[in-house]
Amino acid sequence: MHVAWRFLLRLLPMHASPPQHDRHAIKPRILTGDTPTHTGLHLGHWVGSLENRVRLQDEFDCYFLIANVHAFTTLADKPEQIRANTLGIVKDWIAVGMDPERSTFVLQSEVPAIAELTFLFAMLLPFNKVMRNPTLKTEIDSKGLGDTYSFGFPMYAVGQCADILVFRPELVPVGEDQEAHIEMCRDVAMKFNQMYCGVGNRVPQEGHVAAGGVFPIPKAKIGRVARLAGLDGVNKMSKSLGNAIFLYDSAKDVQKKINKITVVAEESTGLVAQSHVLLQYCDAFLSRERAEAIRADYAEGKNVMHGHIKAELGEAINALLEPMRARREALETAEGEARVLEIIRSGIKRANVVAEETLAMSKRSMKLDFAERRISY
Ligand code: TRP
Repeated sequence: MHVAWRFLLRLLPMHASPPQHDRHAIKPRILTGDTPTHTGLHLGHWVGSLENRVRLQDEFDCYFLIANVHAFTTLADKPEQIRANTLGIVKDWIAVGMDPERSTFVLQSEVPAIAELTFLFAMLLPFNKVMRNPTLKTEIDSKGLGDTYSFGFPMYAVGQCADILVFRPELVPVGEDQEAHIEMCRDVAMKFNQMYCGVGNRVPQEGHVAAGGVFPIPKAKIGRVARLAGLDGVNKMSKSLGNAIFLYDSAKDVQKKINKITVVAEESTGLVAQSHVLLQYCDAFLSRERAEAIRADYAEGKNVMHGHIKAELGEAINALLEPMRARREALETAEGEARVLEIIRSGIKRANVVAEETLAMSKRSMKLDFAERRISY
């Protein structure tokens, strides 16, 4: 055999088996994340987003981001708290079934490409458009930020475009409150592809990459239940409103909270707000057949035994939460803590491979490709 061929053949196996970071290369990617400004996951988070993340891990190459830099937008003076919440979020994720072996946990502060893309993307977004972002506006109101918020606060919305696009994902599973951010992200991706990659403005969104664009135009994926009501039956489930069932409430507390839902029968409709909550929970946590049967009973004006339904719901919810509680508790040890840090470090390595690749592609498109670089940890 020709020497050069033999040489090539020796090289082949190396190329044939993809490098570590490429092991999911055939799967489309997902990116989503949480900001470690608070802890306390509840059932609203589960049905709104977490459940999707857990379920999609086989089909997609998933990147889950801990937005610890964004946490400084409102907690700049509390770095210890941000650090503790960061570790807490990783524990929560593992507890609910997000799997750091199959998926990559990404620590935002150790992916420099995110910060760099944020700056570059900031040039593509009209200032007034960022400031009109409805999610930012709602946050300014609900967190009482008035007009004292930092420059970095609205900047985080631009940063979120970079968080997402640096992984070039197809899907972004989020709660509905994040839709405005995803929309901005899609705008940036399209504008970038058109401005720097020669993608024509008639090219449909699904065709951007095939037409030479760096970024796929990602879609938001909202959870099965977009807005789970709280125990008060009026507001969305939320920690600050005190109407939540937390994932780590004891079995007893879960049942107690469900028992407290007031069901008021009303002559004309048979239903009022509070009983709607019960029905929404039946839809969310019982089997479809069972939930439909209960709805049918209500519709027919049957004498529905609320106590029984509440017991049934408590049992179903506790069956869902029990393995989560057990996994969370197992992480509350010195070994658990060490494991969490190890997961964060290995995620940083994996994330930077993709992130650096995207940044290099972006810089090439922007005529900023003067030198190559490599990040090592
Ligand atoms: N802003 C999101 C939240 O507070 C967290 C987040 C940061 C995020 N970057 C992201 C979510 C990218 C999805 C994609 O919930």
